[in-house]
Parts: sequence; structure tokens; C-alpha cells
Amino acid sequence: MIRISPSILSSDFSNLEREIRSLDAADADWIHIDVMDGVFVPNITFGFPVIKAIRPHTKRFFDVHLMIDRPERYAAQFVSAGADLVTFHFESTSEAEKTIGLIKAAGAMASVSVRPDTPARAVFPYLDEADMILVMSVEPGFGGQSFLPASVDKIREIRREAIRRNKNTVIQVDGGIDEKTICLCAAAGADCFAVGSTVFRSDDRAKTIRALRTAAQNVYLADI
Ligand code: DX5
Ligand code: ZN
Repeated sequence: MIRISPSILSSDFSNLEREIRSLDAADADWIHIDVMDGVFVPNITFGFPVIKAIRPHTKRFFDVHLMIDRPERYAAQFVSAGADLVTFHFESTSEAEKTIGLIKAAGAMASVSVRPDTPARAVFPYLDEADMILVMSVEPGFGGQSFLPASVDKIREIRREAIRRNKNTVIQVDGGIDEKTICLCAAAGADCFAVGSTVFRSDDRAKTIRALRTAAQNVYLADI
């Protein structure tokens, strides 16, 4: 199943309620929420109070991407704030296994992410426990960057390993996704896409989300 998860990092923060309702109306599968702490990445966004504040405005699945140092300290609180899935970075903690356990015990899906310079095999030890792997296709921290083509091979390596283990792990890609790059990633085995500028720049979000989803569906696993 292909999922499009628009990233509210590119939205109008002075009108978050309206932005969330617009994504709901545009039939976004998930809503991607980027949390940055100014330590793990050189940018700061928002935390629990903002997630709590937007939670009542939609029933959509909250896909929370933590770009924070030592996420084990806060992972469960993000679930209480309204996250349905919590992604943390492999590079941000020495306690990845424990963090997965904390997220699941709090009642959400757990996901591990890798930065562009971290090899695919870094996440192999978590393939049996994690519900999702997030492959960053730009350096985390900012929206609107160009897609890094080396991400495609990384996606393929992870999908092959998941298939080998008989796991239907969700593989999400985040950064520089548009109608062209989404096809490269879906063909290599990605089935979930965090999309910032391509959705928020568009005049017709519903149409753009539909077009992205269809483009990915048409080539999913074609180049595995
Ligand atoms: C970047 C964030 C992304 C970002 C993607 O660190 O994790 O979710 O919003 O934005 P685009 O799609 O514009 O690259
Ligand atoms: Zn993200």
C-alpha cells in the first residue's frame, strides 16, 4: 500500500489548524510532523504542545519524525501528545532497541531513520522489531533540498533484506520527493513518502497527492 505523508514543515505555522484541515480534505494518507531540537540538526521546530494542539483537528495518522538527540528521553511523551508512529534516528542514540520498546509500549508504531551517510546495513538489526525504516534522501534539518540519488540503492538494499526476512516493513523516504524522484524510490521498494514542498507549493494539494500516489503505485517494486 502506497502512502503519501505531507510534511507540515513546509506549512504556514501561523495557520496550522487550517493547514491540517486542508491536508485532511486533500486526502493525505498520513501527516508527517518534523520535530527538531537544534542539537541533532541545525534547526528548531516545535514539540509536544504543538502536536497536542493540532491533534483534535484531524483523525489522520500522525507520523512524527524526531530529529532530536537521545530520543529515548521523550519518545513516550510524543505518543501521549498524539503520535501514531514515532521515527527516531539511528545516529541520535546508543539505545535504539530500548527506544523502539518504549515507543511500542506507549502504544505507537516505531521506526528507525538513517541519514544519507549512514549505510543501509545499520538498520538491519532493527528490521525484526521496527514497523518502519525511514531513509533520509537529504540531510535532515530543512525542507526544499534536492534529492540525493544514492538513496535509491539504499532503499533497494533495505527492501531486499526485508523481503529476505519475510517482513513487510514500511520503507519511507523523506527529502526532495516530487513526481520524478518518487518513481525511482517506489521502483526500488519504498512505499511511504514524506513530501514537503511539492505538496505545499501546489495550487491543488488533492490533485498533487493523488498524482504522487498513482505514480508510485504504477512502478512499486519494478526495479528491485
Ligand atoms: C527535513 C524533513 C523533511 C522535509 C521534507 O529534515 O525531515 O520532512 O519537510 O521537505 P521536502 O519535501 O521539501 O524536501
Ligand atoms: Zn521528516
